[in-house]
Amino acid sequence: MPSKDSFMKIVTIVGARPQFVKAGAVNRAIEQLNKRGKRIREIWVHTGQHYDYLMNKVFFEELKLPKPDYHLGVGSGSHGRQTGLILERIEVVLQKEKPEVVMVYGDTNSTMAGALAAAKLRIPVAHVEAGLRSYNQNMPEEINRLLTDHLSALLFCPTTQSVRNLLKEGIKDGETQIVKKVGDVMYDSILYYSKIAERKSSILKDLGLLTPNSAGAIQESPLHRTPNYYLATLHRAENTDDPKRLKSILEALNKIAEKTPVILPLHPRTKKMMKVYRFFSKFKNIRLIEPVSYLDMLQLEKKAKAILTDSGGVQKESYWFGVLCFTLREETEWVETIKSKWNSLVGTKAERIVKKVRHMEVRGRYLKRHGLFGDGKAGQKIVRILMRHFG
Ligand code: UD1
Ligand code: UDP
Repeated sequence: MPSKDSFMKIVTIVGARPQFVKAGAVNRAIEQLNKRGKRIREIWVHTGQHYDYLMNKVFFEELKLPKPDYHLGVGSGSHGRQTGLILERIEVVLQKEKPEVVMVYGDTNSTMAGALAAAKLRIPVAHVEAGLRSYNQNMPEEINRLLTDHLSALLFCPTTQSVRNLLKEGIKDGETQIVKKVGDVMYDSILYYSKIAERKSSILKDLGLLTPNSAGAIQESPLHRTPNYYLATLHRAENTDDPKRLKSILEALNKIAEKTPVILPLHPRTKKMMKVYRFFSKFKNIRLIEPVSYLDMLQLEKKAKAILTDSGGVQKESYWFGVLCFTLREETEWVETIKSKWNSLVGTKAERIVKKVRHMEVRGRYLKRHGLFGDGKAGQKIVRILMRHFG
């Protein structure tokens, strides 16, 4: 029997922007249970994969995330170097902390390196967002997902499809691995933060997306019904690091922006590659801005006429807000959003992207949404399962 002073120790590994949002949802659930007398000790390890203020610290401040107990400071680099540095540095932390379980999130190099280090030390790995597959191994993320799932002892799946994907690879709920469909922690997060964003974010005003009403007062243009801008995000290596593709996508955004503003918060990878290819002076219609904070992003997403993106997280957020999404890729792991018709794969060819967007403008949208990503309590479910196994 555990002694009075015993607690369940979890090491949470984060490093890249979407992981702050995901781990934040589980951290909130842990804090709630601790307030009700449970004894869960969560140690945060930040690999340092993302480090710019707007890619990193702003999330810790806005979402009130715990200050990392360890910062590995790996920074940017090639896949081998980044993964290798995380492996080497995290091993020392895990040997010292000896947690019951290591939590990893999503599909980045921080996810995979954290899982590998823990598995080699025979510490159980819990993977949140398990079972996602694009079946395109040109994406570094696909390799990270595959390896992480096969190394994990507990696999927390967001959707029915992700459970099925694991089953196809022989991973199923049983004696050696625990596979549970819990819903999507990013959904927990937008349910919690979207009201806060309404109150706190001034991004629409700051970007001049509010229009004067007939009485002359500034108000939100009837954006809810007749929004007047598109939101775009772009950062996948296969899009940004190929000059032809990047040019083609930017041409499409530039064309769309002739009629309706296109706001593009620029990921540092995209910024870097646009500099390399000397694209900055070419696409003047697109409104390029710095990456925005999470609350600002939620406001921008919610009020957009539609979203164009290659981000995994943004495709889902678009669905949750009931905003149409055009995915700038040939495939997606979030197939449910496609089946429900809220999302369409428009690829990277300028003509096709523009055509699809124009078609939507004429057709409008009359779609239904179904609760495909859980009930907003994925974080709580995950922590309860962890308690059952390790508490
Ligand atoms: C990473 C993840 C990707 C995830 C994305 C979320 C991998 C392989 N990729 O992609 O799955 O969707 O995060 O945003 O793990 N940079 C900065 N400042 C920063 C961070 C990055 O300038 O704070 C620049 C550097 O030039 C760096 C480049 O962005 O080389 C790419 O960063 P990296 O972390 O390697 O990959 P992401 O494209 O951010
Ligand atoms: N996001 C943000 N500011 C931005 C762009 C994205 O806060 O300028 C948020 C977005 O709302 C989502 C997460 O970051 O919650 C998605 O991260 P990203 O697109 O970088 O990664 P992916 O989901 O593709 O792995």
